[in-house]
Amino acid sequence: MLTIQSHKGPYTATFDPSALTKLEENVPANAHFLIDAHVADLYAAQMKNILTHRSVLLIDALESNKSLERMPDYVAHLVGKGLRRDHRLIAIGGGIIQDITCFLSATMLRGVDWVFYPTTLLAQADSCIGSKSSINSGTAKNILGTFTPPREVHISTNFLATLDPRDVRSGIGEMLKVHVIDGPDSFDTIAADYQRILKEPEVMMTYIRRSLDIKKAYIERDEFDQGARNVFNYGHSFGHAIEAATDFGIPHGIAVTIGMNMANYVAARLEVGSDENYRRMQPVMRLNYDGFETYPVPLAPFMTALSRDKKNQGTGTATFILANRAGQVFKDQYPMDENLTSICRDYLESERAAA
Ligand SMILES: NC(=O)c1ccc[n+]([C@@H]2O[C@H](COP(=O)([O-])OP(=O)(O)OC[C@H]3O[C@@H](n4cnc5c(N)ncnc54)[C@H](O)[C@@H]3O)[C@@H](O)[C@H]2O)c1
Ligand SMILES: [Zn+2]
Repeated sequence: MLTIQSHKGPYTATFDPSALTKLEENVPANAHFLIDAHVADLYAAQMKNILTHRSVLLIDALESNKSLERMPDYVAHLVGKGLRRDHRLIAIGGGIIQDITCFLSATMLRGVDWVFYPTTLLAQADSCIGSKSSINSGTAKNILGTFTPPREVHISTNFLATLDPRDVRSGIGEMLKVHVIDGPDSFDTIAADYQRILKEPEVMMTYIRRSLDIKKAYIERDEFDQGARNVFNYGHSFGHAIEAATDFGIPHGIAVTIGMNMANYVAARLEVGSDENYRRMQPVMRLNYDGFETYPVPLAPFMTALSRDKKNQGTGTATFILANRAGQVFKDQYPMDENLTSICRDYLESERAAA
């Protein structure tokens, strides 16, 4: 079990393969469930009591459902079910269900507790701790949000057995990110175990746990993302721009993996990182985005999205998290100029085509 300190007090993340069974056998009367509809289908037999509870909202895990525009439906449902301040929202699903539940928990009645049963690897190894909710509005992704920690997180790695392999690699992308942040030795260790993670559930569990341990230290120091925690955006400036330029055709953590490889390439070309560092990390990055290396990423929308990144300050510059020559991540600002455009063009045209 991990205990995480937050501005709302401590909360726990527990590893328990029978988490769903325990919930099923003891469904809290004051619960309002928000459940990924696909997970509800797959696990219907194990969730009979949960699915017949008086307040259940089944939601398809689509970005369009994680939006301000859809909130009135969810609010109306919860109002109709008599939501009170001493009730609990219980989320069962991945990052999309998490973001919806966390946002509602922050805003409805000025605050209702929420509990999370993450069912994707990305949510189990990364997003389940850290307090953030992110909601889309119109075409602006993750533009609205809050810092609202759950009361409890219950992690059952049994859920991972039914995940699509793309979603497994998406989660591993975030795990690789966390290990780069921890330092080059940490990254080299997870990189060496990459195939074992895919094949051996106990090795997978070890790295989920390690990823949460590494993240815990940063979010406890900087829950509101004002300083130290910023490095968790490593791979994300480029990754988000890739997602935007491809109409979200690439799963988030896989776009982040390409984004990390690209960040290493850019760092080498800007001479703040090194070619050696780029080459050191590249093999496992390539394994993790295998099949997406030739996915077309048009340069113009990519550069536009990069210039609009949330982290940028002022105009004409972009804020990047890059790895230095020693493989340690750091944050700095860079001009959005012709040189940067030509580096990005070279990467998108030649590096990935050669992959
Ligand atoms: N708030 C945060 O801190 C944070 C951090 C990272 C990402 N996110 C957000 O999370 C979202 C991505 O989350 P995600 O990758 O967890 O995926 P997701 O919620 O989009 O789910 C991915 C797919 O997996 C399916 N699925 C979920 N659990 C399953 C299971 N056990 N078996 C089979 N299929 C299952 C879903 O139905 C969906 O098709 C994005 O919207 C991203 O912006 C939020
Ligand atoms: Zn991410």
